Amino acid sequence: MKLKILLKKQKNAYWAEIKKFWEIIDNEFVPPLSTRGDSVKLKIRDTDKSEIIVAEENNILKGIVVYWIYYPPVKTAYLHWLIVKPEFRGRGIGTKLMKKAISRLKGHGVKIIKLVTYSTKVSALNIYYSLGFKLYYTKRNLKGPGIHKVYLKLNV
Ligand SMILES: CC(C)(COP(=O)(O)OP(=O)(O)OC[C@H]1O[C@@H](n2cnc3c(N)ncnc32)[C@H](O)[C@@H]1OP(=O)(O)O)[C@@H](O)C(=O)NCCC(=O)NCCS
Repeated sequence: MKLKILLKKQKNAYWAEIKKFWEIIDNEFVPPLSTRGDSVKLKIRDTDKSEIIVAEENNILKGIVVYWIYYPPVKTAYLHWLIVKPEFRGRGIGTKLMKKAISRLKGHGVKIIKLVTYSTKVSALNIYYSLGFKLYYTKRNLKGPGIHKVYLKLNV
């Protein structure tokens, strides 16, 4: 399996395939991602301040990680999405994508990586905690009873 970093030009070439990942997880988010419009996604596509790393094997995209690089002096990056196609989950692809994103961001001079997710995203949280992310803020019951919005960060 290859992990490929997509800059602006390659993002355009891969865009139709990348868009499919958002469809996969549409209903895993409340409200569904599709109701939030495309402006953030298009910004991600059209700038080099955001990168996408794809996990690809035999011309099949199996997973993606999407993040914003915030350049110095802030030195804080924001991890936007980590998504693996359901049929390829549980094989370490999510972990590999995250490790690659962290090392890439380290290379950019980033000192802190932040992300936001939900307490119900157990697999994702297991990956984040195993890589050293720490919980620094919780908005309790934000999406319903027991579904907390959780804010994590990693010092790299
Ligand atoms: C979160 C997500 C990206 C994880 O992707 P993944 O490729 O399945 O992740 P990994 O395979 O690295 O780890 C998942 C589990 O598989 C296990 N695993 C990894 N490699 C394994 C292997 N070779 N054999 C058996 N189990 C393995 C991990 O221990 C982990 O177990 P856990 O969930 O009990 O902690 C995926 O579930 C997903 O796309 N979810 C929907 C979107 C989402 O929630 N994104 C994150 C929040 S924004």
